[in-house]
Amino acid sequence: MRLIFGTILVLSCLVLYTQSVDRSKFKTCAQSGFCKRQRDHNPGLPAYKANFDTLKVENGHLSCEVVNTNNSVLFKLDLYLLKDNRFRFKLNELQPLHPRYEVEGVVIDSLVEEKFQVVRKDSNQIELKNGLNNRVVLYAYPLKAEFYIGDFLVTSFNSKNLLKFEHLRTKPSNNDVKQEENAEAPADQKPKDDEEPDMWEEGFNGHTDTKPNGPESVGMDINFHDFEHVYGIPQHADKLALRTTGSTDPYRLYNLDVFEFETYNPMALYGSIPYMLAHNKKFTIGVLWLNAAETWVDIKSNKADKSIFSKVADFISKSNEIPQVDTHWFSESGIIDVYLMLGPKATDVFRQYGQLTGNTPLPPLFSIAYHQCRWNYNDEDDVKNVNAGFEEHQIPMDVMWLDIEHTNDKRYFTWDSHKFPNPDKMMENLSSFGRKLVTIVDPHIKSDPNYHVYSEAKEKNFFVKDKTGNNYDGWCWPGSSAWPDFLNEDVKNWWASKFTLENYKGTTLDTFTWNDMNEPSVFNGPELTFQKDALHLNGIEHRNVHNIYGQNFHKATFRGHLLRSNGERRPFVLTRSTFAGSQRYGAVWTGDNTAEWEHLKLSIPMCLTFSLTGMSFCGSDVGGFFKNPDAELMIRWYQAAAYQPFFRSHAHIDTKRREPWVFGDEAINLIRDAVHSRYALIYYWYTLFYQNEKFGKPPMLPLWVEFPEETDLYDMDDQHMVGSAIMIKPIITQGATSVDVKFPGKNEVWYDVKSLRTYEGGSTTTFSDITLSTVPVFQRGGTIVPYKFRLRRSTTQMADDPFTLTVCLDTQNSATGQLYFDDGFSYNYNKTNEFVYREFSISNNKLVSRNLSPESQLKTFAWLERVIIYGVKTQPKSITLENSEKQSTQLQFSYDSNSNVLLIRKPGVKINTDWSILIS
Ligand code: GLC
Repeated sequence: MRLIFGTILVLSCLVLYTQSVDRSKFKTCAQSGFCKRQRDHNPGLPAYKANFDTLKVENGHLSCEVVNTNNSVLFKLDLYLLKDNRFRFKLNELQPLHPRYEVEGVVIDSLVEEKFQVVRKDSNQIELKNGLNNRVVLYAYPLKAEFYIGDFLVTSFNSKNLLKFEHLRTKPSNNDVKQEENAEAPADQKPKDDEEPDMWEEGFNGHTDTKPNGPESVGMDINFHDFEHVYGIPQHADKLALRTTGSTDPYRLYNLDVFEFETYNPMALYGSIPYMLAHNKKFTIGVLWLNAAETWVDIKSNKADKSIFSKVADFISKSNEIPQVDTHWFSESGIIDVYLMLGPKATDVFRQYGQLTGNTPLPPLFSIAYHQCRWNYNDEDDVKNVNAGFEEHQIPMDVMWLDIEHTNDKRYFTWDSHKFPNPDKMMENLSSFGRKLVTIVDPHIKSDPNYHVYSEAKEKNFFVKDKTGNNYDGWCWPGSSAWPDFLNEDVKNWWASKFTLENYKGTTLDTFTWNDMNEPSVFNGPELTFQKDALHLNGIEHRNVHNIYGQNFHKATFRGHLLRSNGERRPFVLTRSTFAGSQRYGAVWTGDNTAEWEHLKLSIPMCLTFSLTGMSFCGSDVGGFFKNPDAELMIRWYQAAAYQPFFRSHAHIDTKRREPWVFGDEAINLIRDAVHSRYALIYYWYTLFYQNEKFGKPPMLPLWVEFPEETDLYDMDDQHMVGSAIMIKPIITQGATSVDVKFPGKNEVWYDVKSLRTYEGGSTTTFSDITLSTVPVFQRGGTIVPYKFRLRRSTTQMADDPFTLTVCLDTQNSATGQLYFDDGFSYNYNKTNEFVYREFSISNNKLVSRNLSPESQLKTFAWLERVIIYGVKTQPKSITLENSEKQSTQLQFSYDSNSNVLLIRKPGVKINTDWSILIS
């Protein structure tokens, strides 16, 4: 009896305290054969040599053969000068035993630059220059490529000679392993990799990965000269500025469903975007390592992580040392295919990367508003009551979400007929409030011959296969399941057809989709995912495409949304798993976080990192997925998330209910304020998303993008920008009584448009009057931001509401800002120019509205209700409006000389017309 009691006690302790990740489920680098081989690779004498006798240069494309001098294996190197200051470095085996996998569907434009010049060539070097005078120098031996912006060396590939390209080979019999493999190598330099035990088979946690192709990993160093800061390679629960990895594992990129992930470590998470940016005072550049296999990245820096003593020692010995970040990338299979964006500014890099992999398309307006989710809203009444709660408490909300329990036993595209007998009616009710519904659709298909999705896919032979050729069977929410092979275009099209309104009963064009578990998550698989030797179309092994499987699923769903509206309406699809280019198909959230302050804090760098790497429509579960937030955490989370691109509250099925009204009156009011602050700025956000689609610049940005020369901003990730005009320092510590806010930019002035105080750029201010209602948000001098202040239940009701312009003058008394809007849901903005895109600017006391796209022609009732100008030093005598017909009217105004704020009442002009306001 005592024993049993003791056991129960131990078990309950485990339940209570095992709140963090079970590391034993996931590989360390030392447990991964190729990671170990590549990380330990010590080149000795450099092995790779370009054969310049084979050199060809044609139209910005250089090619030549490369030989591994240790074993005579031949490779083909292609070096491209691409349009818009981009380069591509591609290395593959010249004659592999069979074709090595090359990533498909990610790069959408890699047009070769015509303006190029061979500057110099000798027996060991060739130098090419693009139209912008930026150069690449390729060295034959030791093989390396150096890239220059003007005269500055910014990055070099293989300058540390870490290139290691394991060629495909046939499996030797046990006896002749060493003899055959080492036959071509000089006796004193036998390649060490041929002696590793796990090259043809590898075990982990009771799973065996058979490797029919043997070792096939690829690795190379990419080094950033004169840089101290690198960013990107999501997804990790880590800081914005990447850290050196000497004492930890490398950053791992392998899409995994990590239960209760830990903060601040380089373990893999749900997404992998192998794209890194480097930034210094002069330049920002980006490097895409286009490989969809498991990848690891080591980072070293000659500046970071030095103790004070070694810094002093360094200072004395080599004070002139140029900072450098050395990175080492290695992938389990595939080829080396690296794209370089040479900037030179961050905004150039955003555009260049956007041209390469696509920009986030303009989302439907509702999707950038507030979303209410929970695992689960239990039945139709629950949905109705939650909707009514938002009405009662006058909190705006655009979207309700249904998690897996709404289905008939986790059969996606179906409904639980007891809990959701009338989905049509439920949809109708939500639509009548101007609201939408999102239902979850995961990629695992319940193995049930009576489930039409399963039986069709089986019959069409659409499932991923295991290594023996049978349909891959694994365990997920529905129990035994199979996974469609989304790499196959036919499968994508078939999947897309499931979303038409005839096929997905109970949905309307107001129903949207949540794609989850698409890493893919397999509860009984190795590291909770597929076997790497599983097979896709044409016998491609899963190991080659693992990191891009989730994107193909997301893409197929996006296609489904387009199909169901004949390409008329913009899709909205949320995904958990990502790869480079996933931004083309929708939004991402950071996965299963926890209701803890650390997780609130991490939501900022995690979304900043996604933003920098193209995946700009990012958010975290508000409140934290696991555990129960208290009122304070909940309020602070809403306040922070209102300024992040994707704004959704979500919770685990075992947590307490946490709709905004369960935390008491103060919380209701503060949560309403937070949500309202998002709606008030929704047209500003929408304008930023439009500019994101056009120019690739993400809405949520680190401060250094706006202030590139301010080195103390380079690792700041608890304060960020929304566009160029708004800066927020969310409060992310419990019981905060004070907060330090950094005001960047010399000669800048920052405005708190609520308190009417101003702050000088180049300073830090401690705010010690913090209350639960404090949200430190500032508008930058020199900007104009459009607001809609009327409190509405959803964005649908806001369409014709009037605008307020908040104008914050800079030290030259001028400011500019843009406003974009359209119908919020269709493609008419592209097809028939139905949109409004205007610029407002003020200088010399004249505020002018001008059309940025004369071809635009949206009919709208929206008008200008007021203009508030901050930073006006003298009392005006009169204010005159001139409308598009050149008629003048005197406007009413009030001026406060203490705060220097001028309020101009009711200009009353339609927002999409030309007008000016003269302040005299
Ligand atoms: C996964 C998702 C989570 C969802 C749950 C049930 O854990 O990350 O958001 O609620 O699955 O579908």
